Amino acid sequence: MEKKTVLEGLGLRKGWIYEAIVATYSGGKPHAAPMGVCTRDLRTLNVEAYKTAQTCRNISSGGCFTLNYAKDPSLFHASLYDKESLRYERAKKIAAPLLKDADACMEVSVIDAIDLGNRIGFAGEIISYAQKGSAFPLVNRAEALAIECLIAASKVPYTSGREKEFLLEYLTYIRRAVSRVAPGSGAEELVEKVCSGLE
Ligand SMILES: Cc1cc2nc3c(=O)[nH]c(=O)nc-3n(C[C@H](O)[C@H](O)[C@H](O)COP(=O)(O)O)c2cc1C
Repeated sequence: MEKKTVLEGLGLRKGWIYEAIVATYSGGKPHAAPMGVCTRDLRTLNVEAYKTAQTCRNISSGGCFTLNYAKDPSLFHASLYDKESLRYERAKKIAAPLLKDADACMEVSVIDAIDLGNRIGFAGEIISYAQKGSAFPLVNRAEALAIECLIAASKVPYTSGREKEFLLEYLTYIRRAVSRVAPGSGAEELVEKVCSGLE
């Protein structure tokens, strides 16, 4: 039997998107922003960054970044809207900062960059990783989206007009989002079943 890769061992699934905080240096100053990360082969990590993002320019020039994982959304909030409150330390093996308050992190070195029009797709290899707790804290939106789907669908029979239209549009959004962040998952199957039952 083939040995598990590090990413497989940490619980990542092929093609699923996990929410993390990407930290880089911006002219020597630590910088962070939330981004989705996935793996297509369970060996390399992929981040697609909008060209307008500072993070995109920092990864292009620095050639490396850290991925910082947290279950608590307040760290994601701070990395978007309260950047001054973030506490950093230097990564051990690459020239990028780490978020002190993250529950886990990965140090990543860029091995490829592809122009995707308005975004750059970076592929990187994991150089090292560390975690504070026993389980690696991966955040994937699929389970929460499935619960949202059930809540919205359960309201549909009791609504009409604009309110019903809103719920059906919301369910379409959820259906697309779950397929994007967790293809092949039980959550995707559940959402498909519920939504097709409403058609
Ligand atoms: C959970 C979450 C995930 C995000 N994923 C991405 C992503 O994959 N790529 C991207 O370019 N922006 C993503 N964003 C938006 C960026 O974080 C946002 O545009 C940020 O302001 C960029 O910051 P910067 O210009 O300081 O790098 C995400 C935001 C959140 C909250």
